Parts: sequence; structure tokens; C-alpha cells
Amino acid sequence: MSCNELLSLHNGLQIPVLGLGTWQASDVEIETALEIALEMGYRHIDTALRYGNEGAIGKVLKRWLDAGKIKREELFISTKLPLNLNRPHEVETTFQKSLANLQLDYIDLYLIHTPFTVFTNEDGSVKFDKEGLVEVDSTTDHVATWAEMEKLVEKGWTKSIGVSNFSKEQIQRLLKNCKIRPANLQIEHHVYLQQRDLIDFCKAEDITVTACSPLGSKGNYVKLNAKNGIQRRVPDLLEIPEVKEIAVAHNKTSAQVLLRWIIETGVSTIPKSTNPEHLRENMNIFDFDLTAEEMDKLLSLDRNFRICDLAMFRGIERHPEFTFKNQYTK
Ligand SMILES: NC(=O)c1ccc[n+]([C@@H]2O[C@H](COP(=O)([O-])OP(=O)(O)OC[C@H]3O[C@@H](n4cnc5c(N)ncnc54)[C@H](OP(=O)(O)O)[C@@H]3O)[C@@H](O)[C@H]2O)c1
Repeated sequence: MSCNELLSLHNGLQIPVLGLGTWQASDVEIETALEIALEMGYRHIDTALRYGNEGAIGKVLKRWLDAGKIKREELFISTKLPLNLNRPHEVETTFQKSLANLQLDYIDLYLIHTPFTVFTNEDGSVKFDKEGLVEVDSTTDHVATWAEMEKLVEKGWTKSIGVSNFSKEQIQRLLKNCKIRPANLQIEHHVYLQQRDLIDFCKAEDITVTACSPLGSKGNYVKLNAKNGIQRRVPDLLEIPEVKEIAVAHNKTSAQVLLRWIIETGVSTIPKSTNPEHLRENMNIFDFDLTAEEMDKLLSLDRNFRICDLAMFRGIERHPEFTFKNQYTK
């Protein structure tokens, strides 16, 4: 097995179960890391207009494609329609920005990044009112935005479309009102936030699921929250005793066990790393199997603990489509 083991999307396209996440990777970091990752064999890259690094990723992809080191069809590139530009009239122009940044003729998977909409300042930063609350735009209309997403497929600009951070109810509404079904849902998914109902629902509807923050994001949200004056303790998933114990039994690391558990449940995942050792480690998860007992032990760890709670966006929960409020955090 290799890191390009594939899951099939309903449209016949295939997504490598292991991809490279790129959130919080600067241009310089991602340029170097992506070169290394492609050399190692990574073929699935996840980015977003909001990450600000599509241009750097595009530069590397162009170098590889122009040099004939890779064929376009060997790559699986996903990017996302941001939370400040997801009104129907903004879909096409926003998509075109990503396509130009990535220097590609088409995207493999284009996702609506969040089910809610916010206003931003001219520099793109999220707008807060005088009380320090995020200025939400409650006019979000998923069905109308989705109709514009479908046009991107019809024009051949993206092979597949999907959603991220959507709830089961929001996806059900899309399914009732679409011409093209969502091919993928990207959600926070790890041993402490398993979202089994949502994943089972997607599987039954032939919607693939991609786990983001599979390693618990290693303090990234803690830092973001702290910048905004919010102190919140987040557990380190790599230090969970049960995970460490399983890792020792297989002569693997905790990160490898966490990733292996996700792919063994038929979900793809996109750990982020710009560290060559971590890139290699995260890829080396195709030479061992977890036992049924170990799988059960990991399943039993669920705490419904959302790490990416967007606490730094105070007031975001006032948006009618905000999806994280049914999760408890502690
Ligand atoms: N759709 C969404 O709303 C959404 C939300 C969050 C994330 N995402 C996507 O999912 C990707 C992954 O999520 P994430 O970046 O939040 O978190 P993550 O992949 O769970 O964790 C990334 C952190 O773990 C470290 N790391 C990576 N491999 C490691 C290893 N083997 N051992 C120890 N530390 C390791 C990384 O540092 P080093 O770089 O130093 O290795 C980084 O600090 C994102 O990059 C993004 O593409 C999407």
C-alpha cells in the first residue's frame, strides 16, 4: 500500500487517502515542504484562499508540471471558497482567483469552506463590531451558492465540488436541491471528535469524508485564540496514553496511529507539516494494521471535543448556519 491509496468519489474521480494540509504554512515554508512532499510521493494537496499560500503552491506545481516530473492527472488539488466570499455572486470570481493563484487549468475538488458568512475589512481580516463581536452576514443561502458551485463543474473548471464544516441537516438540504451532489465533506475529525453520525450519513449518501486537524492541530488554535485574548486548554492528542500504548505495540509514533485509525475507517486525511521528518512519518502508515481491539479502544476515546471551535471569532455563533454550537468544549 502507498500514500496514494485511493477512495472513489461518486463522480468516478479518486482521492488519495493521505494528503498534505497546508494551513498555517507560510509561502517560504510551503515552497520547500511541497518540493519535499512531492519527491516523497504526496499527490493530494489541500489548501484554501484564506490560507494565503495558494500562490506559493502554484509556483511549485508549475515547476513540476513544466519539467514533466508529474502529470496533472496524477495530482489531486483541493481548495476552498472562503467564509467572506461565499455569496452566490462571489463564487465564480473567487474561484478564478484560486485557479490563477494555483496556475492550474482545473481544480480537483472545490469546497465551500464554511456554512456561515462573515464581513471582512479591506485587508481581508474578519470584521468585529464595537462590542468585539464578529460581524456576521446572516443572508447565507446554501442552495443559491451551491447552484453557482455546480456551474464551475459544468464549465470544466473543477472536477468535483463539496462542503466543509457543514452539518447533516445542511447537507440534506443541498441533496434535496441540487443537480450535482456534493462529492466530499471536510470536517475536523480525530479520536476526541469522531462525529460518527455525520460520517455514517455521508457514507450512506456516497459522500467521501476528509478529516482535517487529524493530529489535533498541535496548538495552532490555542495560539490563534491567545492572540485574541482567549485562553483555552486543548489536549495534546499525541500524548493520550491509549494512543501511545498502541504506538509502542506497533513500533510506530502516536501521529502514525492517529492517522492510521482515520484511514482504516474509510476516511481520507490531510495532516499539515512543513517538517521533512514529520512528512515522512505521516506517510509511513501503510505498512501496519490496527487490530479490532485497538480500533475499538480508539473509538471509545471520543469526547465530542472540538479543537477548532472558532472561539477567537466571538459572536460567530449568532449566525443562523453556525454548526459548532451542538458540540461541547471543555
Ligand atoms: N476545512 C477547514 O475548516 C479546515 C480546518 C482546519 C484544517 N484544515 C486543513 O486540514 C489540515 C490539517 O489540519 P491542521 O493543520 O489544523 O492540523 P494537524 O494536521 O492536525 O496538525 C498540524 C500540526 O501538527 C504538527 N505535526 C505534523 N505532523 C506531525 C508529526 N508526525 N508529529 C508531531 N507533530 C506533527 C505540525 O507541525 P510541523 O509543520 O512542524 O510538522 C502542525 O503544527 C490543514 O493544514 C488544512 O489543510 C481545514
